Amino acid sequence: GFHVGSAVAGGGHHLEQDYPDPFTYDCEYRKILGKQFSSLSPENQMKWEFIHPEPDRYAFEAADAIVDFAEENDQVVRGHTLLWHSQNPAWLEEGDFTDEELRAILRDHITTVVGRYAGRIQQWDVANEILNDDGTLRTSDNIWIRELGPGIVADAFRWAHEADPEAELYFNDYGVESVNAKSDAYLALVEELLADGVPVHGFSVQGHLSTRYGFPDDLERNLNRFAALGLGTAVTELDVRMDLPENGEPTRQQLRQQADYYGRALSACLAVEGCDSFTIWGFTDKYSWVPVFFEGEGAATVMTADYARKPAFHTLWTRL
Ligand code: XIL
Repeated sequence: GFHVGSAVAGGGHHLEQDYPDPFTYDCEYRKILGKQFSSLSPENQMKWEFIHPEPDRYAFEAADAIVDFAEENDQVVRGHTLLWHSQNPAWLEEGDFTDEELRAILRDHITTVVGRYAGRIQQWDVANEILNDDGTLRTSDNIWIRELGPGIVADAFRWAHEADPEAELYFNDYGVESVNAKSDAYLALVEELLADGVPVHGFSVQGHLSTRYGFPDDLERNLNRFAALGLGTAVTELDVRMDLPENGEPTRQQLRQQADYYGRALSACLAVEGCDSFTIWGFTDKYSWVPVFFEGEGAATVMTADYARKPAFHTLWTRL
């Protein structure tokens, strides 16, 4: 029951506008994606701005293609994501809606998107990044929480559960690998929701790590706190970026350190009962989001841009 996954590149703000879609046009990419992994996560293709570009129009083509590909290759899919502050279409963020209308918009979206893939998505990131680093709710930049109040989070889980009773429903965030104010707040939130009978099934850590910072040593201990509540846990977006030397080539020492981080993240997940899903945020530097989003950093995935296996690749796959 253990799944090792990758994000499926496409639609990224870091890919050139006229860049041919990797998932569609890069044969080698597709081959590795189909062979090496047993779980897929659309990197962008199920986000609001892609799947719901206009108020009355959904665009399912790209997401459909990924779900079909996954089935052809005996892979499960992690749906990403339903309630988030980022990558929402302008019509939503800049629209002038009453609270009632906004609620109906979210409900319709969740019902439509989750319903379309019902039975074909193993885990949904229902709520993505809803907390600030200090553990408070994102009340200013998350449109749903700002306009409709914190109760909307529970509703999102209920609506998703109605639309697909089989899907495991997750909270997902970054900066929650360790025991800290943010993960503490998730623990308290989840306990409260479970006590209220809200269908929450899992808690996942993204795992966007950097060799600038130490490895989060208490990852296993942190995940175990959630497992103790009966939740599933997962690592959903692992990558390990590094400061690139001037020639752009990571040193052997950097690659060793990176491999060590990947290996420790996998070990932590394997050691936790119910941590059955371990996903890397892309497998090749060719399409990684890192260089564009983190200045001076890169080389964050397990393969080079020309698909050579890095030490991190070997560290993971000697154990899988
Ligand atoms: C990133 C994608 O990788 C980029 O292609 C896109 O331009 C921006 O979003 N946390 C998440 C992911 O939950 O959805 C983000 O993905 C990375 C951080």
